[in-house]
Amino acid sequence: MDKIRIQGGKILNGNVEVSGAKNAALPILMATLLTDQECILGRVPDLQDIRTTIKVLNHLGTETTSDFSAHTLKLRAPEVKCFEAPYDLVRTMRASVLVLGPLLARYGKAKVSLPGGCAIGARPINYHLLGLERLGAKIELEGGYVIASAQKLRGNRVAFEFPSVTATENLMMAAVLAEGETLLENCAKEPEIVDLARMLRSMGAQIEGEGTELITIQGKKSLHGCNYQIVGDRIEASTYLAAGFLTGGNVRVDGVDPETIEAVLGKFEEAGATIIREAHSVGLRSNGRPKATNITTLPFPGFPTDMQAQFMTVMAMAEGASLITETIFENRFMHVSELVRLGADITIRGHSAMVHGQKTLKGAPLMATDLRASASLVLGGLCAQGETWVSRVYHLDRGYENMESKLQKLGAVIERVPSTERS
Ligand code: UD1
Repeated sequence: MDKIRIQGGKILNGNVEVSGAKNAALPILMATLLTDQECILGRVPDLQDIRTTIKVLNHLGTETTSDFSAHTLKLRAPEVKCFEAPYDLVRTMRASVLVLGPLLARYGKAKVSLPGGCAIGARPINYHLLGLERLGAKIELEGGYVIASAQKLRGNRVAFEFPSVTATENLMMAAVLAEGETLLENCAKEPEIVDLARMLRSMGAQIEGEGTELITIQGKKSLHGCNYQIVGDRIEASTYLAAGFLTGGNVRVDGVDPETIEAVLGKFEEAGATIIREAHSVGLRSNGRPKATNITTLPFPGFPTDMQAQFMTVMAMAEGASLITETIFENRFMHVSELVRLGADITIRGHSAMVHGQKTLKGAPLMATDLRASASLVLGGLCAQGETWVSRVYHLDRGYENMESKLQKLGAVIERVPSTERS
Protein backbone atom coordinates (compact mmCIF):
# COMPACT_ATOMS: atom_id res chain seq x y z
CA MET A 1 0.00 0.00 0.00
CA ASP A 2 1.30 3.43 -0.95
CA LYS A 3 2.13 6.05 1.64
CA ILE A 4 2.48 9.79 1.41
CA ARG A 5 5.54 11.56 2.75
CA ILE A 6 5.33 15.26 3.56
CA GLN A 7 8.06 17.65 4.61
CA GLY A 8 5.99 20.26 6.42
CA GLY A 9 6.37 23.95 6.99
CA LYS A 10 6.29 25.26 3.43
CA ILE A 11 4.06 28.23 2.62
CA LEU A 12 1.65 27.31 -0.20
CA ASN A 13 1.01 29.84 -2.94
CA GLY A 14 -0.52 29.68 -6.41
CA ASN A 15 -3.59 28.31 -8.10
CA VAL A 16 -5.19 24.89 -8.41
CA GLU A 17 -7.62 23.67 -11.07
CA VAL A 18 -10.50 21.92 -9.35
CA SER A 19 -11.59 18.52 -10.73
CA GLY A 20 -15.17 17.46 -11.44
CA ALA A 21 -17.13 16.67 -8.28
CA LYS A 22 -17.00 13.04 -7.20
CA ASN A 23 -20.37 13.24 -5.46
CA ALA A 24 -22.00 14.71 -8.57
CA ALA A 25 -20.30 12.27 -10.94
CA LEU A 26 -21.44 9.15 -9.06
CA PRO A 27 -25.23 9.66 -9.40
CA ILE A 28 -24.78 11.09 -12.91
CA LEU A 29 -22.94 7.96 -14.01
CA MET A 30 -25.76 5.84 -12.56
CA ALA A 31 -28.35 8.01 -14.33
CA THR A 32 -26.98 6.85 -17.70
CA LEU A 33 -28.79 3.55 -16.95
CA LEU A 34 -32.05 5.42 -17.61
CA THR A 35 -31.64 5.43 -21.41
CA ASP A 36 -30.49 3.07 -24.15
CA GLN A 37 -28.82 5.98 -25.96
CA GLU A 38 -25.24 7.18 -25.60
CA CYS A 39 -24.38 9.63 -22.82
CA ILE A 40 -21.15 11.60 -23.07
CA LEU A 41 -19.87 12.97 -19.78
CA GLY A 42 -17.15 15.60 -19.45
CA ARG A 43 -15.02 16.67 -16.50
CA VAL A 44 -15.20 13.21 -14.96
CA PRO A 45 -12.59 13.00 -12.18
CA ASP A 46 -10.11 10.12 -12.34
CA LEU A 47 -10.84 8.58 -8.96
CA GLN A 48 -11.11 5.13 -7.48
CA ASP A 49 -14.85 5.61 -6.75
CA ILE A 50 -15.46 6.49 -10.41
CA ARG A 51 -13.61 3.36 -11.55
CA THR A 52 -15.66 1.27 -9.11
CA THR A 53 -18.88 2.83 -10.49
CA ILE A 54 -17.78 1.97 -14.04
CA LYS A 55 -17.21 -1.63 -12.87
CA VAL A 56 -20.73 -1.73 -11.41
CA LEU A 57 -22.18 -0.35 -14.66
CA ASN A 58 -20.15 -2.75 -16.83
CA HIS A 59 -21.37 -5.61 -14.67
CA LEU A 60 -24.94 -4.51 -15.42
CA GLY A 61 -24.25 -4.38 -19.18
CA THR A 62 -23.27 -0.76 -19.84
CA GLU A 63 -20.68 -0.29 -22.58
CA THR A 64 -18.13 2.34 -21.62
CA THR A 65 -15.29 4.12 -23.39
CA SER A 66 -13.14 6.13 -21.06
CA ASP A 67 -10.50 8.70 -21.78
CA PHE A 68 -9.39 9.78 -18.34
CA SER A 69 -6.63 11.97 -19.74
CA ALA A 70 -9.44 14.10 -21.24
CA HIS A 71 -11.77 13.37 -18.29
CA THR A 72 -14.37 12.11 -20.74
CA LEU A 73 -16.57 9.04 -20.55
CA LYS A 74 -18.98 7.62 -23.10
CA LEU A 75 -21.58 5.26 -21.73
CA ARG A 76 -24.38 3.31 -23.33
CA ALA A 77 -26.72 0.86 -21.65
CA PRO A 78 -28.53 -0.75 -24.59
CA GLU A 79 -29.86 -3.53 -22.42
CA VAL A 80 -29.20 -4.61 -18.90
CA LYS A 81 -27.46 -8.01 -18.66
CA CYS A 82 -28.21 -8.47 -15.00
CA PHE A 83 -29.94 -6.48 -12.29
CA GLU A 84 -27.57 -7.06 -9.44
CA ALA A 85 -24.89 -4.83 -7.90
CA PRO A 86 -22.84 -7.46 -6.08
CA TYR A 87 -21.44 -7.27 -2.57
CA ASP A 88 -17.80 -7.24 -3.75
CA LEU A 89 -18.35 -3.93 -5.51
CA VAL A 90 -20.87 -2.38 -3.13
CA ARG A 91 -18.79 -2.97 0.00
CA THR A 92 -16.01 -0.70 -1.33
CA MET A 93 -18.41 2.07 -2.29
CA ARG A 94 -21.67 2.80 -0.58
CA ALA A 95 -22.93 4.98 -3.44
CA SER A 96 -23.53 1.75 -5.44
CA VAL A 97 -26.97 1.87 -3.83
CA LEU A 98 -27.71 4.55 -6.46
CA VAL A 99 -28.38 1.83 -9.06
CA LEU A 100 -31.69 1.08 -7.32
CA GLY A 101 -33.64 4.08 -8.63
CA PRO A 102 -32.59 3.91 -12.30
CA LEU A 103 -32.83 0.09 -12.60
CA LEU A 104 -36.28 0.00 -11.02
CA ALA A 105 -37.48 2.87 -13.19
CA ARG A 106 -36.28 1.36 -16.47
CA TYR A 107 -36.63 -2.39 -15.89
CA GLY A 108 -38.87 -2.79 -12.85
CA LYS A 109 -36.29 -4.77 -10.90
CA ALA A 110 -33.02 -4.33 -9.05
CA LYS A 111 -30.93 -6.26 -6.58
CA VAL A 112 -28.29 -4.46 -4.53
CA SER A 113 -26.18 -5.71 -1.68
CA LEU A 114 -26.93 -3.82 1.54
CA PRO A 115 -24.00 -1.46 2.02
CA GLY A 116 -23.68 -2.28 5.72
CA GLY A 117 -21.91 -0.02 8.21
CA CYS A 118 -18.95 2.11 7.33
CA ALA A 119 -16.24 3.87 9.21
CA ILE A 120 -18.06 7.18 9.72
CA GLY A 121 -21.37 5.78 10.95
CA ALA A 122 -24.13 3.22 10.53
CA ARG A 123 -25.53 4.92 7.39
CA PRO A 124 -28.74 2.95 6.78
CA ILE A 125 -30.69 3.23 3.49
CA ASN A 126 -34.21 3.18 4.94
CA TYR A 127 -35.14 6.57 3.38
CA HIS A 128 -34.24 5.24 -0.08
CA LEU A 129 -36.34 2.12 0.44
CA LEU A 130 -39.36 3.87 2.00
CA GLY A 131 -39.35 6.39 -0.86
CA LEU A 132 -39.21 3.71 -3.55
CA GLU A 133 -42.08 1.89 -1.83
CA ARG A 134 -44.10 5.11 -2.07
CA LEU A 135 -43.60 4.94 -5.84
CA GLY A 136 -45.05 1.42 -5.81
CA ALA A 137 -41.93 -0.74 -5.51
CA LYS A 138 -41.99 -3.97 -3.54
CA ILE A 139 -38.90 -4.22 -1.36
CA GLU A 140 -37.58 -7.45 0.12
CA LEU A 141 -34.44 -8.00 2.14
CA GLU A 142 -32.84 -11.38 1.58
CA GLY A 143 -29.36 -12.73 2.27
CA GLY A 144 -27.88 -9.27 2.74
CA TYR A 145 -29.46 -7.98 -0.48
CA VAL A 146 -32.23 -5.51 -1.21
CA ILE A 147 -34.50 -6.95 -3.89
CA ALA A 148 -36.77 -4.33 -5.40
CA SER A 149 -39.45 -4.88 -8.01
CA ALA A 150 -42.34 -3.00 -9.59
CA GLN A 151 -44.64 -3.56 -12.57
CA LYS A 152 -44.49 0.16 -13.22
CA LEU A 153 -43.43 2.92 -10.83
CA ARG A 154 -46.16 5.50 -10.21
CA GLY A 155 -45.64 9.11 -9.18
CA ASN A 156 -46.53 9.93 -5.58
CA ARG A 157 -45.73 12.25 -2.70
CA VAL A 158 -42.56 11.30 -0.82
CA ALA A 159 -41.60 13.20 2.32
CA PHE A 160 -38.07 12.45 3.54
CA GLU A 161 -37.63 12.24 7.30
CA PHE A 162 -34.19 13.86 6.84
CA PRO A 163 -32.77 15.57 3.72
CA SER A 164 -30.53 12.66 2.70
CA VAL A 165 -28.38 13.41 -0.33
CA THR A 166 -28.27 10.00 -2.01
CA ALA A 167 -31.89 9.16 -1.06
CA THR A 168 -33.02 12.37 -2.82
CA GLU A 169 -30.91 11.38 -5.86
CA ASN A 170 -32.20 7.80 -5.94
CA LEU A 171 -35.81 9.01 -5.84
CA MET A 172 -35.20 11.64 -8.53
CA MET A 173 -33.82 8.94 -10.83
CA ALA A 174 -36.75 6.64 -10.10
CA ALA A 175 -39.37 9.36 -10.60
CA VAL A 176 -38.18 10.62 -14.01
CA LEU A 177 -39.53 7.44 -15.64
CA ALA A 178 -42.48 6.84 -13.29
CA GLU A 179 -46.05 7.33 -14.44
CA GLY A 180 -47.40 10.78 -13.49
CA GLU A 181 -46.23 13.38 -11.01
CA THR A 182 -43.89 12.89 -8.05
CA LEU A 183 -43.49 15.43 -5.27
CA LEU A 184 -40.31 15.00 -3.24
CA GLU A 185 -40.50 16.90 0.06
CA ASN A 186 -37.76 17.79 2.55
CA CYS A 187 -35.16 17.12 -0.16
CA ALA A 188 -31.43 17.63 0.23
CA LYS A 189 -30.36 20.89 -1.44
CA GLU A 190 -26.70 20.12 -2.10
CA PRO A 191 -25.16 21.45 -5.36
CA GLU A 192 -24.67 17.82 -6.48
CA ILE A 193 -28.48 17.40 -6.46
CA VAL A 194 -28.76 20.47 -8.69
CA ASP A 195 -26.15 19.02 -11.04
CA LEU A 196 -27.99 15.69 -11.26
CA ALA A 197 -31.26 17.52 -12.05
CA ARG A 198 -29.54 19.47 -14.83
CA MET A 199 -28.09 16.30 -16.30
CA LEU A 200 -31.46 14.52 -16.14
CA ARG A 201 -33.08 17.52 -17.86
CA SER A 202 -30.46 17.29 -20.61
CA MET A 203 -31.77 13.71 -21.10
CA GLY A 204 -35.33 15.03 -21.51
CA ALA A 205 -36.57 14.67 -17.92
CA GLN A 206 -39.06 17.15 -16.51
CA ILE A 207 -37.86 18.35 -13.09
CA GLU A 208 -38.43 21.54 -11.13
CA GLY A 209 -37.32 22.82 -7.75
CA GLU A 210 -33.86 21.24 -7.40
CA GLY A 211 -31.84 23.12 -4.79
CA THR A 212 -35.02 23.71 -2.72
CA GLU A 213 -36.78 21.35 -0.36
CA LEU A 214 -39.54 20.56 -2.84
CA ILE A 215 -38.69 18.84 -6.12
CA THR A 216 -41.51 18.18 -8.60
CA ILE A 217 -41.05 15.61 -11.34
CA GLN A 218 -43.37 14.73 -14.23
CA GLY A 219 -42.50 11.20 -15.33
CA LYS A 220 -41.59 10.59 -19.00
CA LYS A 221 -42.04 7.43 -21.08
CA SER A 222 -38.37 7.43 -22.05
CA LEU A 223 -35.24 9.57 -21.87
CA HIS A 224 -32.57 10.20 -24.50
CA GLY A 225 -28.77 10.46 -24.54
CA CYS A 226 -26.89 13.57 -23.47
CA ASN A 227 -23.61 15.41 -23.50
CA TYR A 228 -23.02 16.78 -20.03
CA GLN A 229 -20.19 18.50 -18.13
CA ILE A 230 -19.92 17.73 -14.40
CA VAL A 231 -19.76 20.58 -11.85
CA GLY A 232 -16.51 21.38 -9.98
CA ASP A 233 -15.76 19.67 -6.67
CA ARG A 234 -16.58 22.07 -3.84
CA ILE A 235 -14.99 19.86 -1.17
CA GLU A 236 -11.74 19.53 -3.10
CA ALA A 237 -11.72 23.30 -3.66
CA SER A 238 -12.33 24.00 0.04
CA THR A 239 -9.56 21.55 1.01
CA TYR A 240 -6.93 23.43 -1.07
CA LEU A 241 -8.10 26.75 0.35
CA ALA A 242 -7.63 25.25 3.82
CA ALA A 243 -4.10 24.19 2.80
CA GLY A 244 -3.29 27.77 1.79
CA PHE A 245 -4.78 29.13 5.00
CA LEU A 246 -2.95 26.95 7.48
CA THR A 247 0.43 27.33 5.79
CA GLY A 248 0.07 31.13 5.76
CA GLY A 249 -0.11 31.42 1.97
CA ASN A 250 -2.29 32.77 -0.86
CA VAL A 251 -4.17 30.13 -2.84
CA ARG A 252 -6.71 30.40 -5.64
CA VAL A 253 -8.96 27.57 -6.75
CA ASP A 254 -10.29 27.71 -10.31
CA GLY A 255 -13.39 25.94 -11.61
CA VAL A 256 -15.70 26.19 -8.60
CA ASP A 257 -18.70 28.42 -7.98
CA PRO A 258 -18.15 30.37 -4.71
CA GLU A 259 -21.87 30.11 -3.87
CA THR A 260 -21.49 26.35 -3.44
CA ILE A 261 -18.93 26.83 -0.64
CA GLU A 262 -20.27 29.97 0.99
CA ALA A 263 -20.61 28.31 4.42
CA VAL A 264 -16.92 27.34 4.34
CA LEU A 265 -15.77 30.71 2.96
CA GLY A 266 -17.69 32.55 5.68
CA LYS A 267 -15.89 30.49 8.33
CA PHE A 268 -12.47 31.11 6.73
CA GLU A 269 -13.28 34.83 6.88
CA GLU A 270 -14.38 34.58 10.50
CA ALA A 271 -11.04 32.87 11.17
CA GLY A 272 -9.21 35.85 9.69
CA ALA A 273 -8.61 35.04 6.00
CA THR A 274 -9.45 37.39 3.14
CA ILE A 275 -11.62 35.74 0.48
CA ILE A 276 -11.82 36.92 -3.11
CA ARG A 277 -14.94 35.62 -4.85
CA GLU A 278 -15.06 35.52 -8.66
CA ALA A 279 -17.54 33.93 -11.04
CA HIS A 280 -15.84 30.53 -11.18
CA SER A 281 -12.93 30.83 -8.82
CA VAL A 282 -12.10 31.73 -5.24
CA GLY A 283 -8.93 33.21 -3.79
CA LEU A 284 -7.81 33.01 -0.16
CA ARG A 285 -5.20 35.23 1.46
CA SER A 286 -4.16 34.21 4.95
CA ASN A 287 -3.50 37.16 7.18
CA GLY A 288 -1.33 35.35 9.70
CA ARG A 289 -2.32 32.62 12.11
CA PRO A 290 -6.01 31.59 11.91
CA LYS A 291 -8.30 32.64 14.77
CA ALA A 292 -10.39 30.09 16.65
CA THR A 293 -13.83 29.67 15.04
CA ASN A 294 -16.70 27.33 15.95
CA ILE A 295 -18.49 25.24 13.35
CA THR A 296 -21.51 22.93 13.33
CA THR A 297 -22.02 20.63 10.37
CA LEU A 298 -25.45 20.79 8.74
CA PRO A 299 -27.15 19.85 5.47
CA PHE A 300 -26.51 22.36 2.63
CA PRO A 301 -26.40 25.37 2.77
CA GLY A 302 -24.88 24.72 6.21
CA PHE A 303 -21.26 23.81 6.86
CA PRO A 304 -20.55 20.50 5.03
CA THR A 305 -19.68 17.44 7.10
CA ASP A 306 -17.22 16.56 4.30
CA MET A 307 -15.10 19.60 5.32
CA GLN A 308 -15.31 19.10 9.08
CA ALA A 309 -12.05 17.14 9.41
CA GLN A 310 -10.05 19.56 7.22
CA PHE A 311 -11.41 22.59 9.09
CA MET A 312 -10.43 20.94 12.36
CA THR A 313 -6.81 20.80 11.17
CA VAL A 314 -6.94 24.54 10.50
CA MET A 315 -8.32 25.05 14.01
CA ALA A 316 -5.59 22.82 15.48
CA MET A 317 -3.17 25.63 14.48
CA ALA A 318 -5.46 28.53 15.36
CA GLU A 319 -5.15 31.10 18.11
CA GLY A 320 -7.64 30.19 20.84
CA ALA A 321 -10.16 27.41 21.43
CA SER A 322 -12.85 26.34 18.98
CA LEU A 323 -15.78 23.98 19.23
CA ILE A 324 -16.50 21.68 16.29
CA THR A 325 -19.87 19.94 16.34
CA GLU A 326 -20.78 17.10 13.97
CA THR A 327 -24.53 16.60 13.49
CA ILE A 328 -24.69 14.50 10.30
CA PHE A 329 -22.68 11.37 11.09
CA GLU A 330 -22.26 9.80 14.53
CA ASN A 331 -18.66 8.65 14.23
CA ARG A 332 -16.82 11.23 12.23
CA PHE A 333 -13.98 12.15 14.57
CA MET A 334 -11.55 9.37 13.72
CA HIS A 335 -8.99 11.89 12.51
CA VAL A 336 -8.78 13.35 16.02
CA SER A 337 -6.48 10.71 17.53
CA GLU A 338 -4.17 11.05 14.50
CA LEU A 339 -4.07 14.87 14.69
CA VAL A 340 -3.21 14.50 18.38
CA ARG A 341 -0.14 12.52 17.26
CA LEU A 342 1.02 15.71 15.54
CA GLY A 343 0.69 17.57 18.83
CA ALA A 344 -2.85 18.93 18.40
CA ASP A 345 -4.85 19.48 21.59
CA ILE A 346 -8.35 18.11 20.88
CA THR A 347 -10.86 16.59 23.27
CA ILE A 348 -14.03 14.85 22.11
CA ARG A 349 -17.27 15.17 24.10
CA GLY A 350 -20.16 13.40 22.43
CA HIS A 351 -20.79 15.00 19.06
CA SER A 352 -18.39 17.89 19.68
CA ALA A 353 -14.65 18.34 19.68
CA MET A 354 -12.94 21.10 21.66
CA VAL A 355 -9.79 22.21 19.85
CA HIS A 356 -7.15 24.28 21.64
CA GLY A 357 -5.00 25.68 18.85
CA GLN A 358 -1.22 25.16 19.01
CA LYS A 359 1.47 27.44 17.63
CA THR A 360 3.31 24.50 16.10
CA LEU A 361 2.62 20.88 15.24
CA LYS A 362 5.34 18.25 14.77
CA GLY A 363 5.50 15.63 12.00
CA ALA A 364 4.61 12.00 12.84
CA PRO A 365 3.54 8.75 11.16
CA LEU A 366 -0.26 8.81 10.69
CA MET A 367 -2.91 6.41 9.47
CA ALA A 368 -5.85 7.46 7.29
CA THR A 369 -9.23 6.06 8.32
CA ASP A 370 -11.66 7.47 5.75
CA LEU A 371 -11.68 9.76 2.77
CA ARG A 372 -12.04 13.24 4.29
CA ALA A 373 -10.09 12.26 7.42
CA SER A 374 -7.13 11.42 5.15
CA ALA A 375 -7.26 14.91 3.66
CA SER A 376 -7.17 16.42 7.16
CA LEU A 377 -4.03 14.40 7.95
CA VAL A 378 -2.30 15.58 4.77
CA LEU A 379 -3.17 19.16 5.79
CA GLY A 380 -1.71 18.42 9.24
CA GLY A 381 1.50 17.18 7.63
CA LEU A 382 1.75 20.31 5.46
CA CYS A 383 1.88 22.64 8.44
CA ALA A 384 3.71 20.36 10.92
CA GLN A 385 7.44 20.79 11.37
CA GLY A 386 9.53 17.93 9.99
CA GLU A 387 8.38 14.77 8.29
CA THR A 388 4.90 13.24 8.29
CA TRP A 389 3.98 9.89 6.77
CA VAL A 390 0.34 9.16 5.95
CA SER A 391 -0.46 5.50 5.35
CA ARG A 392 -3.60 3.83 3.91
CA VAL A 393 -3.82 6.54 1.25
CA TYR A 394 -6.23 4.41 -0.77
CA HIS A 395 -8.90 6.32 1.18
CA LEU A 396 -7.57 9.56 -0.32
CA ASP A 397 -7.52 8.08 -3.83
CA ARG A 398 -11.27 7.49 -3.62
CA GLY A 399 -11.95 11.21 -3.69
CA TYR A 400 -8.96 13.46 -4.49
CA GLU A 401 -7.53 13.46 -8.00
CA ASN A 402 -3.74 13.94 -8.15
CA MET A 403 -3.60 15.48 -4.72
CA GLU A 404 0.19 15.27 -4.45
CA SER A 405 0.85 16.94 -7.79
CA LYS A 406 -1.71 19.69 -7.12
CA LEU A 407 -0.05 20.39 -3.76
CA GLN A 408 3.45 20.21 -5.27
CA LYS A 409 2.37 22.88 -7.75
CA LEU A 410 1.52 25.10 -4.77
CA GLY A 411 5.01 24.56 -3.35
CA ALA A 412 4.42 21.64 -0.97
CA VAL A 413 7.12 19.03 -0.46
CA ILE A 414 5.03 15.90 -0.77
CA GLU A 415 5.50 12.59 -2.53
CA ARG A 416 3.86 9.21 -2.86
CA VAL A 417 6.06 6.32 -1.80
CA PRO A 418 5.23 2.76 -2.89
CA SER A 419 4.99 0.50 0.16
CA THR A 420 8.13 -1.50 -0.69
CA GLU A 421 10.35 1.51 -0.03
CA ARG A 422 9.31 1.77 3.62
CA SER A 423 7.57 -0.93 5.63
C1 UD1 B 1 -23.67 11.99 0.88
C2 UD1 B 1 -22.26 12.15 0.35
C3 UD1 B 1 -21.27 12.21 1.50
C4 UD1 B 1 -21.68 13.30 2.49
C5 UD1 B 1 -23.15 13.15 2.90
C6 UD1 B 1 -23.66 14.30 3.76
C7 UD1 B 1 -22.37 11.04 -1.81
C8 UD1 B 1 -21.97 9.89 -2.63
N1 UD1 B 1 -21.98 11.02 -0.51
O1 UD1 B 1 -23.72 10.75 1.57
O2 UD1 B 1 -19.99 12.50 0.97
O3 UD1 B 1 -20.88 13.20 3.65
O4 UD1 B 1 -23.99 13.07 1.73
O5 UD1 B 1 -23.50 15.50 3.08
O6 UD1 B 1 -22.99 11.98 -2.27
N2 UD1 B 1 -29.60 8.36 6.69
C9 UD1 B 1 -30.51 7.47 7.21
N3 UD1 B 1 -31.23 6.70 6.34
C10 UD1 B 1 -31.08 6.79 4.99
C11 UD1 B 1 -30.14 7.72 4.46
C12 UD1 B 1 -29.41 8.49 5.35
O7 UD1 B 1 -30.69 7.37 8.42
O8 UD1 B 1 -31.75 6.07 4.25
C13 UD1 B 1 -28.82 9.23 7.61
C14 UD1 B 1 -27.31 8.94 7.54
O9 UD1 B 1 -26.93 7.87 8.36
C15 UD1 B 1 -26.73 10.28 7.98
C16 UD1 B 1 -27.73 11.29 7.43
O10 UD1 B 1 -28.93 10.57 7.17
O11 UD1 B 1 -26.72 10.33 9.37
C17 UD1 B 1 -27.28 11.98 6.16
O12 UD1 B 1 -26.87 11.04 5.23
P1 UD1 B 1 -26.98 11.24 3.66
O13 UD1 B 1 -27.29 12.64 3.31
O14 UD1 B 1 -27.86 10.16 3.13
O15 UD1 B 1 -25.51 10.93 3.21
P2 UD1 B 1 -25.12 10.10 1.95
O16 UD1 B 1 -26.11 10.41 0.87
O17 UD1 B 1 -24.85 8.70 2.31
